[in-house]
Amino acid sequence: MLRPREAVRTLPSYHPPLAGRDGMRLDFNENTVGCSPRVLERLRRLGPEQLARYPEREPVEVVVAEKLGVAPPELLLTNGVDEAIHLLSETYLEPDDEALIVVPTYSMYRIYAMAAGAEIVTVSAGKDFQFPANDLCKRITSRTRLIAIANPNNPTGTVASGDELLRIARLAPGAALLVDEAYFEFYGQSVLAARIEAPNLFVARTFSKAYGLAGLRIGVLVGEPGQMAAVRRVSSPYNVNAVALACLPEALRDQDYIQQYVAEVRESRSRLEQALEAGGIQFWRSHANFILARVGGASPFVELMRRRGILVRDRSSDTGCEGCVRITLGPQAHTDRLLTALQETLEEIGLGQGASWR
Ligand SMILES: Cc1ncc(COP(=O)(O)O)c(C=O)c1O
Repeated sequence: MLRPREAVRTLPSYHPPLAGRDGMRLDFNENTVGCSPRVLERLRRLGPEQLARYPEREPVEVVVAEKLGVAPPELLLTNGVDEAIHLLSETYLEPDDEALIVVPTYSMYRIYAMAAGAEIVTVSAGKDFQFPANDLCKRITSRTRLIAIANPNNPTGTVASGDELLRIARLAPGAALLVDEAYFEFYGQSVLAARIEAPNLFVARTFSKAYGLAGLRIGVLVGEPGQMAAVRRVSSPYNVNAVALACLPEALRDQDYIQQYVAEVRESRSRLEQALEAGGIQFWRSHANFILARVGGASPFVELMRRRGILVRDRSSDTGCEGCVRITLGPQAHTDRLLTALQETLEEIGLGQGASWR
């Protein structure tokens, strides 16, 4: 039996619960209705030649760069944001460097940084999961080489301000600061413009969430052109597949679809917040397409919801999230079903009584 590297031997395995996801999937923060019909039309027109050839990323990078208002050398299309995190870890982390993350947050920062042999330094979120800017700044050292921040954060939905993020970038010029804007469309604010002032700043976006293309695996990483040239060296030239590359321009063209979906999610977010408030259930105001709520026994809650045909995610083992579940939001029809199931489930476990939810 071959012996994996030390960093890999000690790596925790991460198994998101992907099996048997039958029902209404409010468990992975995906688009709950799927992508624009124009993308499906494009898919149907794919021919054998497109599948036979190695995919060419650059022409689509030009389209995405224009959409984001950046120059093509500043941008790399990636196999989801996950690959962007992986590439940054491989590009900047030496064994025993420090990678700084706020907890709770998205799991893959820790995993890729650990796989590169880095030491993970965690900073706990503040009261009500507020972004701990001061605590984080205090933990920056000469060994800090990667700082990864999801903005909005998953699973809390909370945000850091642009000023806080720029301050961190300036305080840690020797570290790559990744601001992961996977939920950008639901929040509407970005630090992309700050890249001019902070050459160590990287911004990642995904097409897995609002765009409904999680299955295609496509995201984008933006950074200073010189840094991006280094990141590109680590990447496979064929990291994004031909199907994703064919579909992405069509997805970008249908902005009406995205705007309408985001408006529906925001409306659903308000409805769920109101319902949780009325039911006396603790939750945290979210800037993303999900809400974290404390329901007590998260595991039985998830099971009772599943029996009602709705999948939600148990987040109770995340730091500070005891008894919490994360619920993804979709359009109104899904929220109608969600609120009905939620009310019944909370009544069944003796919570949220007395409130009328619909
Ligand atoms: C903060 C954050 N970043 C990245 C991802 C993964 O994005 P992708 O599907 O583009 O790899 C997720 C998915 O849940 C996420 O919550």
